[in-house]
Amino acid sequence: MSDELQRGLEGVLVAESELSHVDGEAGRLVYRGYDIEDLARGASYEEVLYLLWHGSLPTSEELDGFSAKLDAVREVDDAVLDTVRTLADAGERPMAALRTATSMLSAYDDEPRADPDDDDVATTTLTQGRRITAKIPTILAAFQRVRQGEDPIAPDPDLSYAGNFLYMLTGTEPDDVSEETFDMALTLHADHGLNASTFTALVIGSTMADIYSGVTGGIGALSGPLHGGANQDVMEVLHEIDASEKDPIEWVEHARDAGRRIPGFGHRVYSVKDPRATILEEKLRDLSDSSGDTKWLEYTTTIEEYLTEQGLVEKGIAPNVDFYSGAVYDSLGIPMDMYTPIFAMSRAGGWIAHVIEYQQDNRLIRPRARYTGPTDATFVPIDER
Ligand code: CMC
Repeated sequence: MSDELQRGLEGVLVAESELSHVDGEAGRLVYRGYDIEDLARGASYEEVLYLLWHGSLPTSEELDGFSAKLDAVREVDDAVLDTVRTLADAGERPMAALRTATSMLSAYDDEPRADPDDDDVATTTLTQGRRITAKIPTILAAFQRVRQGEDPIAPDPDLSYAGNFLYMLTGTEPDDVSEETFDMALTLHADHGLNASTFTALVIGSTMADIYSGVTGGIGALSGPLHGGANQDVMEVLHEIDASEKDPIEWVEHARDAGRRIPGFGHRVYSVKDPRATILEEKLRDLSDSSGDTKWLEYTTTIEEYLTEQGLVEKGIAPNVDFYSGAVYDSLGIPMDMYTPIFAMSRAGGWIAHVIEYQQDNRLIRPRARYTGPTDATFVPIDER
């Protein structure tokens, strides 16, 4: 047993996985061997989910069957919608509302709980996972509408996963470009090795707790600003720059002088630009060209160019996925505080895949801490202290 301390478990191998590989030095990401760029441009999010959950890309027939099962369970129980309303009225933040509502879904699931002694535990997890994945967009769109004083819109089973979310959010069927853009963003965020939220889901899964607990825990971990929260932080910065009418470089210099981190830059694994950021930057360029509104593109690329000149990128603090995703979501009319929940909507697919894979050869995750407290304290009863 090693006594070497690895703060933040940096570089520690804790599991084997066939799901995704992040090559931080080459700036490459693959899902089951397929390059993220090929999947983002050529496959739908449903195909990616199938790939992660079932091990291979589906044929058209397999995809139809898979999508039909997913689409059939999009609706959420009225009691969950009532809770969503209560949370919106209380001014709850979207990630916290999603965490509470996702946890509540289990109360309305007819599927028996996964039994650790049951050989078919993976099937139960998959069935429950499918329900959670199908219902998260319904919860999020309902939350957004209710807090705007509008009624939730029921899911449309004829629309794609991405298209249906945008429809439930806005009440209008999205155009092809918006649907494709959002679908691409979902694919880009679906899995990313053993990141903090996936590891959280895995720790929970390793106790053989049900997948509702795993996904709920994953949402909690993803909500932090060092993980999923950075996409909103980036957009807040872009708005701050816009409101102050400052040059983006001035903002960056000021932030660095104040010791602030630049959101959307840096990554525990990538030492070069995140491949997902490259794809989203291109998408933002396309969207800006077609709308003629190039403001966010100008700000982001100016910041990236400046930080590259300053040597930050060379030091490995390069743009990550969050640097460009916010501006892309903004072009779709999605409110800022929904960016991280959307990340959760997509990443839930990855959490579920990892838990299913890990439980095939389960080992309870139980690391150690080096005890640095006293060992010889003398107990004094409370009335003598
Ligand atoms: N801006 C300026 N300096 C930075 C940044 C940044 N965004 N990120 C890291 N650094 C510096 C940091 O100050 C430290 O410098 P020094 O060695 O001089 O003290 C050095 O880089 C190493 O930082 P670290 O905190 O030890 O690195 P880490 O691997 O623990 O951090 C990170 C990874 C993502 C938490 C960090 O880069 C960060 O806080 N970035 C901003 C938040 C962000 O964009 N998060 C989204 C991550 S990608 C989405 C996801 O996969 O969840």
